[in-house]
Amino acid sequence: MTHLVSELTQLERIPTQIYESADAACLTVADAITDLIQQRNAAGKATVLGLATGSTPVRLYRELIRRHQQEGLSFANVITFNLDEYYGLAGDHPESYRKFMQDQLFDHVDLKPENTYVPDGLVDRDAVFQSCKDYEAAIADAGGIDIQILGIGRTGHIGFNEPGSGPETLTRLVTLDNLTRRDAARDFLGEENVPRHAITMGVGTILAAHQLFLLAWGEGKASIMAQTVEGKQTETIPATFLQQHNNCTFCIDQAAASQLTRQCHPWLVGRIEWTEETTRKAVLWLAQKTGKSLLKLVDEDYTENGMSDLLVEQGPAYDLNIRLFNVTQHTITGWPGGKPNADDSHRPERATPYPKRSLILSPEPLDDVYCLGGTINRLKQHGNQVTIAYQTSGNLAVPDTEVRRAIELMIELGTDRIGEADLSYATTVETQLNEKGSFGADTSEIRQLKGLIRRSEARSSARTLGIDTESLHFMDLPFYEEGRYRRFIVTQADIAKMCELLETVKPHQIFATGYGHDPLSVPALSFEILSAALEQCAGSEWFKDCNIWLYKGPADEWEAHEIDMAVPLSPDEFENKIQGIYQHQTQRSQSPGRASKKSSNSWDLAREINCGTAEIYDALGLAEYEAIECFKRYSK
Ligand code: F6R
Repeated sequence: MTHLVSELTQLERIPTQIYESADAACLTVADAITDLIQQRNAAGKATVLGLATGSTPVRLYRELIRRHQQEGLSFANVITFNLDEYYGLAGDHPESYRKFMQDQLFDHVDLKPENTYVPDGLVDRDAVFQSCKDYEAAIADAGGIDIQILGIGRTGHIGFNEPGSGPETLTRLVTLDNLTRRDAARDFLGEENVPRHAITMGVGTILAAHQLFLLAWGEGKASIMAQTVEGKQTETIPATFLQQHNNCTFCIDQAAASQLTRQCHPWLVGRIEWTEETTRKAVLWLAQKTGKSLLKLVDEDYTENGMSDLLVEQGPAYDLNIRLFNVTQHTITGWPGGKPNADDSHRPERATPYPKRSLILSPEPLDDVYCLGGTINRLKQHGNQVTIAYQTSGNLAVPDTEVRRAIELMIELGTDRIGEADLSYATTVETQLNEKGSFGADTSEIRQLKGLIRRSEARSSARTLGIDTESLHFMDLPFYEEGRYRRFIVTQADIAKMCELLETVKPHQIFATGYGHDPLSVPALSFEILSAALEQCAGSEWFKDCNIWLYKGPADEWEAHEIDMAVPLSPDEFENKIQGIYQHQTQRSQSPGRASKKSSNSWDLAREINCGTAEIYDALGLAEYEAIECFKRYSK
């Protein structure tokens, strides 16, 4: 594939194609695979595919399955080699990569079982070396890998080649990085359950494939993507060795591309059109880069940072500074529901109607208080009609120990105090817990109980924020109730439930999250459902008068130039929010979202994020607040 270098992509060392969505990127890769299989099938030859697991390739596999089922694409002559497997897991373990591949692809196409290779996670320690050599030999016997699919970990790993892996490495046993184990914690219901080792193809094995496609979605991958594409080759980021390959393409979505220079600082590499959006982005970036407040920037700051054009068009610095200061100042409001009887020409939210019907959408219980607990409290205090809808039950994130505590309590109460039926229910759940072990799938009773535990926490948290429990809706969207992490499938039933809620509440404003997240994550799917529902409700009267505010969540915040509404919190208000977070007791030991920041629990992380935003506003030269929650306007 030819790599066209333009002014904007001059810093990129790997051909990178940016797509509107993960689905669009997957179509390109599915086309390449389809073409190759068809050519090889016609020539009576085999096609050898290298495959990855994890969230990233799931949509690609769904597309390949669709082509097999609807367009007759045959995999009968395809041989597959997977990148890796957790060491110590049997092939039928729910989290083994063998099981993942069976569920996500192999069982749905006409691949011959003997043609699907995944490293053996149970091979005896003494036999690992030989088994890895055999794996390499099997790849060579098949004629080498024609197309290798890759995802990327936040450590920069490809396969499980963690930092420290050189370009010569071959298939071997490796130790997993702590960040990688933390990222897998949800799948394994706790970090302590994540295996410490894996068998993986080496970087050298990967580089030997004829063609490589690396896929990446969501903002969580943006930083590592920029370092891999624009940085120097280094063992600290093994994916950078892909720069050595002459037929490697990165197919990524907008969110994963957001930290590439051409996306985030395009003025540093070429001429750009200075729109309102790019101007705001550039000037706020300039202030942060130079460590100056907006009003202290001078012409030289602009000219020395690739922004001379902007100065010519909109300068001098003094004018630009004042304008951007005012724009930023106007994002600040203590009235997230709009201030009645006030001039709203420079306020983020309109004054009328008042009071408003405010709908807070929380993908799981906790996202609401954690990301906008202070705002919810304000909305309520200002007399707005606040509804909080929990899109999913969040039951997958409840450790078994919590269920055990609840049923032990019931059993201890005994038939004297609870009925025969309740007691027998409790003992049934106890037996199910014992039988399933640490990794078995939860029965419907266990999942239900876990969901109820989260409901009670959500109620308790909402009360802390001043919201009465009648204003809470537990939607229990079916995609989640019937699914498992990385394997969720959204259906019309989810969208219908969302439409029903919207048509009942008829909101004047909606607070939602999930935009730009990894497309298979719970927030992203919850947002996808909201978008589809909004499309269906577009004809309704309420829709025309409804503002949508995006909160970033769960472990991240909008950048300064993206913020359209900044709600400052006083120290007391912020402490109240933290109390609300504390009510989610089952989530104390869970890592919040992607846990990309220093803090490892949700209350410290909320402090880090909200107080961090306040510091940014302060440094830009605006008022100094204790904490700020922020939102971005979403155009429907
Ligand atoms: C999976 C693999 C890993 C993943 C990477 C990204 O076989 O080898 O390198 O591709 O950890 O994982 P996801 O896609 O879950 O973000």
